Amino acid sequence: MSQMIFINEGQYPSFHLTNGKLSYIFHVLESTQTLEQLYYGAAIKPRDNYDYLIEREVRPSNNLYQDTHTTSFEHIKQEFPVYGTTDFRYPAIEIAYPDGDHISHLSYVGYTQLSGKQTSNLQPMLRAGEEDAATLIIHLKDNYSQAAIDLHYTIYREQAVIVRRVVVHNRGEESLRLKRLLSMSIDFPHDDFELLHLYGAWARETHLERKPLIKGVQNFSSTRGASSHAHNPFLALVAPNTSEHQGEAFGFSLVYSGNFLSQIEVDTYHVTRVSMGINPFQFDWYLDTGESFESPEVVMAYSSKGLNGMSQQFHDIYRQQLLHNETPFEKAPVLLNSWEANYFDFDEKKLLEQAQLSKDLGFDLFVLDDGWFGKRDSDNGSLGNWTTDLDKIPQGIRSLASNIQAMGIHFGLWFEPEMLSVDTPVYQAHPEWIIGHPNKNISHGRNQFVLDFSNPDVVANIFEQMSQILGSAEIDYIKWDMNRYISEPFSNFLKKHQQGELFHRYILGVYDLLDRIRKAFPAVFIETCAGGGGRYDPAMLFYANQNWISDDTDAIERLKIQYGASMVYPISTMGSHVSEIPNHQVGRITSLKMRKDVALFGTFGYELDIMKLSDADREEVRQQINQFNQYQSLLHHGDFYRLNSPFEAGLTAWMVVSKDQSEAIVGVYQSQASANSAYERIQLAGLASDQAYELLELDHESKDIPVRYGDDLMAIGLILNENFTGRADEYWGREKAGEYHSRVFYLKTKKDK
Ligand code: DGJ
Repeated sequence: MSQMIFINEGQYPSFHLTNGKLSYIFHVLESTQTLEQLYYGAAIKPRDNYDYLIEREVRPSNNLYQDTHTTSFEHIKQEFPVYGTTDFRYPAIEIAYPDGDHISHLSYVGYTQLSGKQTSNLQPMLRAGEEDAATLIIHLKDNYSQAAIDLHYTIYREQAVIVRRVVVHNRGEESLRLKRLLSMSIDFPHDDFELLHLYGAWARETHLERKPLIKGVQNFSSTRGASSHAHNPFLALVAPNTSEHQGEAFGFSLVYSGNFLSQIEVDTYHVTRVSMGINPFQFDWYLDTGESFESPEVVMAYSSKGLNGMSQQFHDIYRQQLLHNETPFEKAPVLLNSWEANYFDFDEKKLLEQAQLSKDLGFDLFVLDDGWFGKRDSDNGSLGNWTTDLDKIPQGIRSLASNIQAMGIHFGLWFEPEMLSVDTPVYQAHPEWIIGHPNKNISHGRNQFVLDFSNPDVVANIFEQMSQILGSAEIDYIKWDMNRYISEPFSNFLKKHQQGELFHRYILGVYDLLDRIRKAFPAVFIETCAGGGGRYDPAMLFYANQNWISDDTDAIERLKIQYGASMVYPISTMGSHVSEIPNHQVGRITSLKMRKDVALFGTFGYELDIMKLSDADREEVRQQINQFNQYQSLLHHGDFYRLNSPFEAGLTAWMVVSKDQSEAIVGVYQSQASANSAYERIQLAGLASDQAYELLELDHESKDIPVRYGDDLMAIGLILNENFTGRADEYWGREKAGEYHSRVFYLKTKKDK
């Protein structure tokens, strides 16, 4: 097994993490025993000395470290900056000491190396077998307390990825308060970058924005109790000339579902500091003697092959080392979700009819969404009362589930475990279990309140209720929803001095419940959801098999949402459904084919009243499901490439290439029609240059199958206009593509060239 961590030993050692795909170098600074960041980027060879990387101007206006005349943290690239020194930029850690001061100094003590990585019982993190990765733990001590700080760096063998996290131990006699603990910080030596991030709102998630950096501080964060629809816990710094296919990109993705901070600070010397972690705003963690605090992980992906290269690192590492892979299904299930077909209006008979037809059409799974429990005929009650509504389902969930399973199709059920309505026995017995101050306003969201998951009794109660249902019936799938943010944060359970811990403890409680469900029902398939993509983050994906990424099911809107989300998340995790027309969110009408062609590049499912479909549409759905099943493995295990951005043009395109380059599938989507328009070509990516590919357009009758070489398809591209030479009649009689139009091409290497 080749070495990935290179250490130049000595009193002031240097550390070089490299796997031939990236290099990450820092060392111990002689004058202060602190860590100095030296390099992060394309792989370079290990050397026995990195002093040549030190750049240190002495600037007249700087404050200088005690007894030195050249050392100011302000002009040293920091590896893990603290508060209260000569560095006036935002730190990664801030500790409040018993004296009331916040001045820290973290000195290097030593290091530990291990194969694979350590795990955590508290929160989700990437896996790593002993062969897959190596970990370096740098031990720091606080000069002013008995706090010990461990910086964990895991480098993976196969991907250009380093994962970082921090653990703080209080080994002293006095308690400390952590005011800020970010998972990582890095100083880049210049600011010649553009910043790329994902923003949005409910039904408009993961939209892409790319802007040049400005001097000063820019950040994206959540204060909502969930990673949120507004900003995804991801950012990338990219060189100005970086495109989808070439140039450098540094991606940062936080494995966290709660309040986060992603921050970029460009200082007056053009040094760019990137830091990421739990949002320090309103965070105040009381660390008692003997206690430890673990930050969530940040996954750092490096690419010299553009944004697609960066995304592919994230996709591969998340598919291999993060996602829960055990499922009751042989392949990704095609599901029918009942929500947009029924909302709250259904009974057992209706469900059984829908399930039977879904079986006949080839679905794998029938999902009963909201409305099956308590007395929930609208969104104004019953959350937290997880008992079947016998008016709607007289024989109970067990009988419904087994009737559906008997049809030869799996059954799944919706829960919103973190919420409570006031009309429930739980609220009657424990009004103090909701988050909010008893003497102050407590706002509702969708008529519901958030359960205080910082309280283990609350988590235990919901676990009991859920296990009753899950243990009593054949339920193979859970949709885990969460439909409001946390406002008026106050816990009746936590002590006065712990109120600043509520948001993080809440998320730890959510992880705890997910973990218990996972352990009790290991094979259950979980789709996480938070009013769509309000909590689409790597931490949720650790427990889940997929995530419902938006309540907006409109095919055109989905192009942007799926395109943006693919910056970080594999398409195999993107819950995507063919839904009714006119679309319920925007009223748009698109063809069944177009809706299928968009959903195909996701998990693929349906969310419409199949009973109302015409015979012709039913037949089309049957064929669409067959088609997805045929290409599912390619779609979900291949390399995804973005080709044409819906944020820039009326023509969107993306493709997936199998790892062995023998197959590919390309989706092209037109969202705007124009008269007398220019010729359209789409340059493909990722193909084997010297291979001949047969080019088949799906859902399209064609007399002959064209053959094109990989180099030709990548250099010249797919030619979307037809050649009508000698076919004037056909040209004038041709059907116009129209506003919403899509084409999917399948490429397969031709055996005998
Ligand atoms: C929000 C989800 O995103 C929807 O898919 C649906 O499950 C509703 N909640 C149910 O209330």
